[in-house]
Amino acid sequence: MFTFIPRNYAGKAEHYADLAAQAGGLIAGEPDLIANAANFAALVFDGLPDLNWAGFYLYDGKELVVGPFQGKPACIRIALGAGVCGTAAQARQTQVVRDVGQFPGHIPCDAASQSEIVVPLVRADGSLLGVWDVDSPVTDRFNEDDRHGMEALCRVFMDHLDGQVIRARRYQSSGSENRAPRS
Ligand code: SME
Repeated sequence: MFTFIPRNYAGKAEHYADLAAQAGGLIAGEPDLIANAANFAALVFDGLPDLNWAGFYLYDGKELVVGPFQGKPACIRIALGAGVCGTAAQARQTQVVRDVGQFPGHIPCDAASQSEIVVPLVRADGSLLGVWDVDSPVTDRFNEDDRHGMEALCRVFMDHLDGQVIRARRYQSSGSENRAPRS
């Protein structure tokens, strides 16, 4: 069983650093993308205050499709360039939206959402995995500290994924079908 014990943090940076360490431990050694995405979403949703949705939209080569998340059922498919998620995916830039009512084209999935942050997830080879999307029922919930913190969290997730691809390629090129992949 994984137990996350929240502490009293001096500020958001310290809180995110702790979450990033917990996320690294949670996904270490597990190659399954969906399992890791599900646990990552649960960790963040449980660990940060004032959230009503946290999860992944995964790019299927054409559009974003909802992936593992915590919160109310959400919109399933989002076109690139649409809403906050599609904008982050297309621009490949984190979107920090302090008031979703002010974001042109915002897609309301949960009427409670007032602010939102979306981080694009880009693989080491430059391809788009999808986006990491977090919503809050509080206006102005996310600021630059959250941008840095969420991007650092996503880097932990993506570095793990990219590391697996590199290890798998090394394994394939080692020429042995019986040898275990090198870590
Ligand atoms: N609000 C998002 C849609 C996804 S939900 O927030 C879960 C958007 O505008 O892209």
